[in-house]
Amino acid sequence: MKKATAVAHSNIALIKYWGKQDEGLRLPMNASVAIGLEEALTTTTVEFDEKLDKDEVSIIGDEFNEMETAKVSQHLDRVRALAGIKTRARVVSQNNFPKAAGMASSASGFAALTVAAAGATELNLNEKELSILARQGSGSASRSVPGGVSVWYTGETSEESYAEPITFPANWKLKVLMVMAEGTGAKKVGSTEGMALSKKNCPYYSTAVSEAGNNLERLKEAMGKGDWSGFGKVIEDECFRLHAVCMTTTPNILYFKGVTVEVFQTLYKLREKGIEAFFTVDAGPHVHVIVKDENVGEVKQALSELSGVKTIIETGIGGAARLIEQHLF
Ligand code: PMV
Repeated sequence: MKKATAVAHSNIALIKYWGKQDEGLRLPMNASVAIGLEEALTTTTVEFDEKLDKDEVSIIGDEFNEMETAKVSQHLDRVRALAGIKTRARVVSQNNFPKAAGMASSASGFAALTVAAAGATELNLNEKELSILARQGSGSASRSVPGGVSVWYTGETSEESYAEPITFPANWKLKVLMVMAEGTGAKKVGSTEGMALSKKNCPYYSTAVSEAGNNLERLKEAMGKGDWSGFGKVIEDECFRLHAVCMTTTPNILYFKGVTVEVFQTLYKLREKGIEAFFTVDAGPHVHVIVKDENVGEVKQALSELSGVKTIIETGIGGAARLIEQHLF
């Protein structure tokens, strides 16, 4: 059987996914929107080998725990079922950013694994089918398959829940600054566990889910009109919607660190000077700042002065997950 290697970009959600209506199928409670991150990449090589009696999974420069290895194997089972095979596989992965630190490594990880495994088994799936398959490994991975700026539909069935590109103003030249907080360890409450807790124990959960729907409409309207300020207001509202849900979950989930809030305040100050850059935060302390090309220098400078900021990675918008010729083994 063929060996195949894929690369996929991570993504940062503008409209957030936080909870499932169907746990098994990973159908989300609400539709979400994300931007692909060009500089945050996972590369994965998959080779099915008759000689193996179990899947061999490793990650270069890092480690998979037992649960993560089991999730990869389960995902390979989905591919094996589609391909009608039982053969075990060797999987080697490499990230160019820290795993499980709130930088959505699961998104690029499961998108790359899906595209590589489908390539190795010559399944010939189209982008929509790959997105549906990736979603079952990790919800946010569905959006890393099309990459770019994408919307992931809720869907009532598995076939209806996939991501595809969403119309985005062509004249917006922007960068995303990945502002990494000091002390990046693995996050304390993983997204799968956190969202299940919120759905069960956050008293405002159902209101927050319907608000996500309203925010998606506001986002589409702002993008349709090319309204940058309106766009920024929605993504910051969305950031606080997610974290309000987390903070009011029992037990409370607090992803922000002091520096997370300092980044917000620095951006508020810049806004007083007419520089409009906007923040969003996923399940970790790091901040993603969406900024127009012409303001990158000034915003980066102001943020790099904060002592709790470890690094700032400047990135453009990443493209779709794809097969490449250079294998990792
Ligand atoms: O699919 P997961 O397990 O990576 O969950 C993603 C959750 C958030 O990053 C917080 C929000 C999102 O929509 O990506």
